[in-house]
Order: sequence, then C-alpha cells, then structure tokens
Amino acid sequence: MNSWDERYAPATYFYGTEPNDFLREQAPVIPSGGTVLCLGEGEGRNAAYLAGQGYDVVALDQSAVGLEKAGRLAAAKAVHIQTIVANLDGYRFDAARWDGIVSIWCHLPSAIRSTLHRQMVMGLKPGGVFLLEAYTPRQLRNGTGGPKDVDLLPSLAELRRDLHGMEILVGTELDRVVQEGTGHNGLSAVVQIVARRPT
Ligand SMILES: C[S@@+](CC[C@H](N)C(=O)[O-])C[C@H]1O[C@@H](n2cnc3c(N)ncnc32)[C@H](O)[C@@H]1O
Repeated sequence: MNSWDERYAPATYFYGTEPNDFLREQAPVIPSGGTVLCLGEGEGRNAAYLAGQGYDVVALDQSAVGLEKAGRLAAAKAVHIQTIVANLDGYRFDAARWDGIVSIWCHLPSAIRSTLHRQMVMGLKPGGVFLLEAYTPRQLRNGTGGPKDVDLLPSLAELRRDLHGMEILVGTELDRVVQEGTGHNGLSAVVQIVARRPT
C-alpha cells in the first residue's frame, strides 16, 4: 500500500466529493460529449462531475484504493466512469485519443512532469483541451495544502515551455482560496492552464 492508498483508506473523501472550482468553471471549453482523461484523479470527484456533464470519462491514478472510491462516488451520483490504475512515470498516451485531458493537483517530480506534458499534447485530438490547476513554488509559504517539496511544484513559465505549440486560452498564476475536503484549506498560490491543441 503506497502513501496515497493510506491517505484514501478512510471512508471519507480527503478532497471532498465536489469538483475543483477551476475545473467546474472551465469544463465547458472541452468539446461537448467528448472523451476525457483525468490524470492523478484520486477519489474521483472531478471525473464524476465531468461524467455528469455528459463526458465519457476515464480516471487514471496509481492508487487502487482511491479509484475504488472513485467508482463508488460515480455510482452514488448515478454516472459511469472508467478507471485505470497506472503510474504516470513513462506513461504512453494513445495518439489523438482525447477531447480533454485534466490534471488537478497532479503533482509529479519535475523529471517526470515535463516529459509527461510534452507526450500529453500528442494524446489530444486536434481541438482537444488540456486543463490544469496546480500549486506553484510560492505555495511553500502557505500552510494550506499541497506538496512540501518544491520539485513537485510547476511554474507558469515551465508549463508554457512544455506546452509549446498549444493555444493557451488561460495561463495564469494567482492567489485564491481553495476549500476542498480536509486536504486543501485556505489562501493558496496556484497556476491555472487551459490549452487547446490546434486543429
Ligand atoms: C493531490 S491528489 C489529487 C487528486 C484529484 N486530482 C483531486 O483533485 O481530487 C494527487 C493524486 O496524484 C496521484 N499520483 C501521484 N503521482 C502519481 C503517478 N506517478 N502516477 C499516477 N498517479 C499519481 C496520487 O495517487 C493522488 O491521487
């Protein structure tokens, strides 16, 4: 059992059962009714929300415990999601398969992250949308959530580099209040991206 499995072991949902605010706001940019892959989706709150909006959703995470709860959450909300237990280190995306790829607080080591984001672009269909919210290095000053290791925290400049060739619809770093279960609570330094693969 890895540390995420342990965190997800209780019956309660660590980040709650409601979707991330930025995802809720920006999800309509993803082509309607399309296929969506949620990276590092944990207990499934975002995947279940997107399925409820009519998307065909696959939730991927390394934590089997988290994804089992994701399946239960989807059932409780009377929607269907598919789950895949997989490690994103070296993950190969099927070419041009997804209308949307979603990364909410999916904090990975920099050595994995850049490669993943560059590969991810090829996994999008032309016109497909990448949507990300993550903590930035400035979040280390706040005690309100997120990793304590700066190597896991991307900057906007890095993401812009890795998403070279994508049309950046939203690319911002800001401070906002994040309230998500017991895991995220309070004013937070975040980066937000919505990027479209050109047609
Ligand atoms: C902070 S949680 C976010 C969960 C979910 N996206 C949400 O917003 O509720 C980060 C998730 O990333 C997953 N994760 C971290 N490293 C991973 C890796 N190398 N491969 C797959 N999943 C990973 C963890 O298991 C965890 O569920």
